[in-house]
Amino acid sequence: MCGIVGYIGDEEATPVLINALKKLEYRGYDSAGIAVIGDGKLSVRKAKGAIKFLEQRIATEIIRGSVGIGHTRWATHGEPSDVNSHPHTDVAGKIAVVHNGIIENHAKLRAFLESHGVAFRSQTDTEVVAHLIDFHYNGDLLQAVLETLKRIEGSYALSVVCESSPDRIVAVRKDAPLVIGVGKGENLIASDVPPLLEYTRDVYYPNDLEVAVVYRDRVEFYDADGDPIEKTTTHVEWDISAAEKGGYEHFMLKEIHEQPKALADTLRARIKTYATKSINLEEIGFDASWAEANRVVITACGTAWHAGVVGKYAFERFARIPVDVDIASEYRYRNPIFDPKDIFIIISQSGETADTLAAMRMARSGGARIIAITNAVGSTLAREADLVMYTWAGPEIAVASTKAFTTQLMCVYLIALQFGALRGTISSEDLARHIDELEALPAQAEKILAEKETIQRFAARNFNKSKAFFMGRLFDYAISLESALKLKEISYTHSEAFAAGELKHGPIALVDETTLIVAICTQRELFDKMDSNIKEVKARGATVLVITYEGETHFDKTADEIFRIPAAPDALTPMLSVIPSQLYAYYCSVLRGLDPDKPRNLAKSVTVE
Ligand code: F6R
Repeated sequence: MCGIVGYIGDEEATPVLINALKKLEYRGYDSAGIAVIGDGKLSVRKAKGAIKFLEQRIATEIIRGSVGIGHTRWATHGEPSDVNSHPHTDVAGKIAVVHNGIIENHAKLRAFLESHGVAFRSQTDTEVVAHLIDFHYNGDLLQAVLETLKRIEGSYALSVVCESSPDRIVAVRKDAPLVIGVGKGENLIASDVPPLLEYTRDVYYPNDLEVAVVYRDRVEFYDADGDPIEKTTTHVEWDISAAEKGGYEHFMLKEIHEQPKALADTLRARIKTYATKSINLEEIGFDASWAEANRVVITACGTAWHAGVVGKYAFERFARIPVDVDIASEYRYRNPIFDPKDIFIIISQSGETADTLAAMRMARSGGARIIAITNAVGSTLAREADLVMYTWAGPEIAVASTKAFTTQLMCVYLIALQFGALRGTISSEDLARHIDELEALPAQAEKILAEKETIQRFAARNFNKSKAFFMGRLFDYAISLESALKLKEISYTHSEAFAAGELKHGPIALVDETTLIVAICTQRELFDKMDSNIKEVKARGATVLVITYEGETHFDKTADEIFRIPAAPDALTPMLSVIPSQLYAYYCSVLRGLDPDKPRNLAKSVTVE
């Protein structure tokens, strides 16, 4: 969850590194630092807090040189502070290291190094790496790194520079993302693609324990034994403007507005339009054998898990197949029961979430077949799954996930419908109708966005409410979970979700006149039940916002306010009904004077447990 960068070329490294770090700030923003080699000397600058504090330091303490590494930190070991910021160096300050991940055996290594006279400066796990490389250094940086890799355990993406080898950066990953960009007379390293796009679109995605030695004019790869290996570059199609705010005040608002396009992009390539409309998943290798499964297991974390909860309802509705949905961090530790005919669907925007990857690997070792739904081409999840269905959401920069979620839903629906078609639980006519309904969603999402001021005004009246509860039934329960998460993570409002039928079993004890209830009401057969629940919370003094369909009068007498979304089939509504909640969370965050793109204590990609 930290971001690492590196540059080697003919330009001054410092501005390139700072620029690249700014594009990675979403990965962590507790502190930042750079190490640059110029005139035969390694210099390090670092500062606690956002990158602007590092920039201020560099403005007065200038460092020159055309090779360097940088880091933006999300603290795991040791508080955010100047001294705990990366890069970390050996005792003599000649070797510098930046690291994303966790060195699990750092305490043992620290004791070992201390017994050899090393005086540590920080509380970080990373510092052991710098000292270990120095311990093994005999004039060959690659060899020293290879020796170090034999001793460290855990997850890492590392970049290393050494004053006596100023013509190279050594970089390696294990269970953490790393990309190497190939420019003209310059090469770059980053944790993610966006910082590279300004310089190049040709990148290497190293696999675990493939060590890159990055020179100005070439990149060499070696395996863990030091034997050379060949790798080919991948051309990245992303548009750089997609990684910038495009006129919106925040990435989150921009990304909320990108949903119609993202939904359309994710859907379009998967539809066959000749004769009767059908779903084309052959591109990802999905054939009839997949639909012979006895059970589908969906595993993910956070928002991606909520996409899985929607998936459960969708699979049961369309494909009539048993579905288990599991939080990855629970799944991996609870000794689950496998059936060789289980199919796993693993959902992750980043494709790098540690718990999600661990759950996938468990499923794999149990013999299950795995479909990945991810937004990150070349991510670990994408590389290790049997089939990959990409969400074509483009880069998601805001920490709170929005367009990744709705496009995950689109993928889940396409797979559920295709399962249904192959299992004969939906007819080809029904499938074609559902495809028409899916194709209508982007324009319907656009209509909701056009009404955003209504949500903004509602937020202006309610953002100070101390409690907000979201309730719904079936698909609306799943969207309540996601809505409550969005609100709590970016506005710090105490928000919870519950299945409306559970109200009487406990949650109603919390309801009073300080409570906002958002009742999501799109499941037509259960409107009467929802109406009763709304009356129950109104009687306890709560303010109630109902999210329901245009033209629907069911809640006119009970709700305090109603936000209407375009009428859609109950089962497909989640891709629409979540949008008002995303907007509500966004506006509450802004009204509370917070930065919705960078919620406290959270990072975009959770690559450690
Ligand atoms: C919430 C959010 C997180 C992520 C979770 C999983 O807005 O973004 O809950 O959904 O950390 O991340 P991925 O999807 O990258 O595995």
